[in-house]
Amino acid sequence: MGSLRSDGWFSGDDEVTVLHRVSLRSAGVAKGSFGNQPVIGIANSASDLNPCNLPLRDLVASVKEGIRRSGGVAVEFPTISLGEDLMKPSAMLYRNLLSIEIEEMIRANPLDGVVLLANCDKTVPGALMGAVSSDIPTILITGGARTPAMFRGKRIGTGTDLWRLWDERRSGRLGDQEWASLETSLSCGTGACNTMGTASSMAIIAEVLGFMVPGSSTIPAGDPRANQVAERAGELAVTAVRKRLTPSRILTAQSLSNAVRVLYAIGGSTNVIIHLCALAGRAGIKLSLDDIGALGEEVKVLVDVEPCGAGLVQDFDAAGGVPALLREMGELLDQATLNIAGQSVAELTCDAPLPSGVLRCRSDPITDCGAFGILRGSLAPDGAVVKKPAASSSLFLHRGPAVVFRSYSEMIQRIDDPELDVSEDSVLILTGCGPVGAPGMPEWGMIPIPKKLLERNVKDMLRISDARMSGTSFGTVVLHVAPEAAVGGPLAIVEDGDMIELDVERGRIDLLVSAPEIARRMSVWSPPPSPHLRGWPALYRDHVTQAPLGCDLDFLTSPPGQRLPFVEPVIGRS
Ligand code: FES
Repeated sequence: MGSLRSDGWFSGDDEVTVLHRVSLRSAGVAKGSFGNQPVIGIANSASDLNPCNLPLRDLVASVKEGIRRSGGVAVEFPTISLGEDLMKPSAMLYRNLLSIEIEEMIRANPLDGVVLLANCDKTVPGALMGAVSSDIPTILITGGARTPAMFRGKRIGTGTDLWRLWDERRSGRLGDQEWASLETSLSCGTGACNTMGTASSMAIIAEVLGFMVPGSSTIPAGDPRANQVAERAGELAVTAVRKRLTPSRILTAQSLSNAVRVLYAIGGSTNVIIHLCALAGRAGIKLSLDDIGALGEEVKVLVDVEPCGAGLVQDFDAAGGVPALLREMGELLDQATLNIAGQSVAELTCDAPLPSGVLRCRSDPITDCGAFGILRGSLAPDGAVVKKPAASSSLFLHRGPAVVFRSYSEMIQRIDDPELDVSEDSVLILTGCGPVGAPGMPEWGMIPIPKKLLERNVKDMLRISDARMSGTSFGTVVLHVAPEAAVGGPLAIVEDGDMIELDVERGRIDLLVSAPEIARRMSVWSPPPSPHLRGWPALYRDHVTQAPLGCDLDFLTSPPGQRLPFVEPVIGRS
């Protein structure tokens, strides 16, 4: 191993290096002779405000032990914690802030490698984006999925079943007592959503990219294997520093292609498409929506987990998790890509189990359609996304009149109005909810079915927005429409009664209004008044990119084909 990055802080005999060594010792960190000992940061996002990440608290001691045993020095530091349920308007508004925090903590401190402790939806991509930008050896540990709740004598999945039961409640089929008992059952422990929501999808994708201990992304919260994994992660972080196994060697065009294909195979969250585009943007790798659509063409959904299927993440873990899935996907994946342990996909999967339980073989997928439809058309010139197995195939070719809501609050006020002019053929349109418009692109895309239609047992309608939706959500919901309304995308000029056509087979989403009329409306359109913002939201709104570019900040991305270098600080007196 050549010189370490941390040598810049600790090698020498002047007053500055003395102060640096004293600083570590004062924090109780023993760094022997200060030679040849990689310093590994443990970025911990556990927080009482984020129960999804609380299991991470119990893993820190094991990570430290693994680092120490391999001859490294462990230093833990806190990060902001992005809890999906409590943060408003959306944890997505803060994903890039977490990435900046990770990158700047690495830049400013004597770290040779980093172990990221993350779990809830945005914490995993945010932390990875920061580490990828800094390009020091990185390994990720997630906290696992929470224990399933029981309701009406059955296991229920986080998110997905709550949305279904809320519709039952709104249509008068679920009374006060049952509703209260549901709340009690859902308070059943810490850990991530146990459906194939964004957290589980993103953990699996992080493992496929190569940033996790193989086989670890699906281990449930509280499972005794988690501490063994944490120790192993500590050891691997030190080894990765010695072997210079940096993110630029892990996050490659090939590993991103594998990740996209696996996202299709797990029927994963649409949010991960945005996160993968952002990660690619940090690394200067081209990954467009069209690339994603092409990569997914031959891949069917193989994992039978909610919301596309019936099981939970725990069942996928019992079926062998990621190694078993990768083995079944075989030649659909690049077999040579390396993980943080230095293993190729081929090496990792040779002993993996064959499909069983919720993991189907390729000849028996859970749906015939692929997981995602990438759409374009006069309503979404830069693209939009629909999650096909979570939608109604009867609406894959649909034409209907628009019912337009210009903001989330307007939608909530009007959606259950008995006077709302809506039928089951209508197309519900929600605008002003994109990265700039909200700002932060909240998960408002699964627009509720109007109450008067729910009471007539209407279960699904075509819904279109520039928002995102939770990975645990479902329905015929067209998301991430780009450009969004707030920057003058065509969604901004749709009017009530305009005919809209979705054709999933042809990958089209169109506003059936004549071109001259569209041009006329655009010529008189002006941006909606933007609320006064300050601090982070103001910086975010002024620099965030659209969904197909990953909703990153423009000054954090690298141009395709050109990875921008990490800038090291001047090391001297502070
Ligand atoms: Fe945190 Fe789902 S809300 S993982």
